[in-house]
Amino acid sequence: MVGTALCAELNQHNLLIPRKHELNVTNQEQIKRFRVSGIDLIIHLACETDHEYCEINPTQCYFVNTVGTGFMTNLAWELSIPIIYMSTASIFDGMKGTPYLPVDRPNPINHYNTSKYYGELVVRGYERHIILRSGWMFGGGADIDKKFVGKLVKKIEAGEKQIKVCDDCIGSPTYSVDLADAMKYVIDNLVDGADWGTYNCVNKGGGVSRYEFAAEIIKHLKTDAAVIHCKIDDLKSEFPCKRTNYEVLADGIEMPDWKDSLKGYILANY
Ligand SMILES: NC(=O)c1ccc[n+]([C@@H]2O[C@H](COP(=O)([O-])OP(=O)(O)OC[C@H]3O[C@@H](n4cnc5c(N)ncnc54)[C@H](OP(=O)(O)O)[C@@H]3O)[C@@H](O)[C@H]2O)c1
Repeated sequence: MVGTALCAELNQHNLLIPRKHELNVTNQEQIKRFRVSGIDLIIHLACETDHEYCEINPTQCYFVNTVGTGFMTNLAWELSIPIIYMSTASIFDGMKGTPYLPVDRPNPINHYNTSKYYGELVVRGYERHIILRSGWMFGGGADIDKKFVGKLVKKIEAGEKQIKVCDDCIGSPTYSVDLADAMKYVIDNLVDGADWGTYNCVNKGGGVSRYEFAAEIIKHLKTDAAVIHCKIDDLKSEFPCKRTNYEVLADGIEMPDWKDSLKGYILANY
């Protein structure tokens, strides 16, 4: 999702975009082949992103998301180049109840989130790093978006008329194209200025429930389907893995309002 948007955004740069079979981040032999001069930045997006999969396959989850991140950080160190690591708002436990700042203390509550937080810790062991934390991602259209927006659209296409969406999970929607744009800013300014550290990267206006997010999606789709309020515990069969119920990030890198981006995205893609 993020990679597709980023490749389009950075098309003026000379990009090396290895596929998983060419550069599996857990495969040190493959990584060695990238110890070549000319690479001047690593943007590390590779990840096991499915919370449910990670919860029942913790070894693979930590191997890819933490150990693999360690290997990629090591590659950056060997090449003496910066690394950008994508992290997530869901490394927090949600107890704070007000938007999280980069300095707040993470306390992840499932394997995926823990593996991402450990990834952050590993990356921080090398000075020349930038960690970008983002939120509920959407973008890429029907073929690429396997997350909330994509899943909701699929339910509607399958003929569901009353779709239950929880109103007790609050987060920060993030459009992959805006994120890619923000990343370009980060590369041109923070990386070039050696402003290493952790930055929030979410659309403006976050702090909305899944229900509000879904209602806004439905508004722009030509559909007579409706969203129905429920609680996250009502959706245990669909989302068995424990999740944070408050994962709002304070504004960081400047990004547009999520409602404007969502509208443009839905109208252009669905
Ligand atoms: N999506 C979100 O809501 C969200 C929110 C915050 C942060 N992020 C972060 O953003 C980054 C990108 O996420 P995304 O949403 O773009 O996920 P995505 O679409 O699932 O992309 C992840 C990519 O990583 C690849 N991958 C998986 N295991 C790999 C391995 N061992 N070696 C090399 N590549 C591997 C996957 O390939 P295959 O598909 O072939 O397995 C896929 O192309 C991740 O670090 C994620 O934690 C995402």
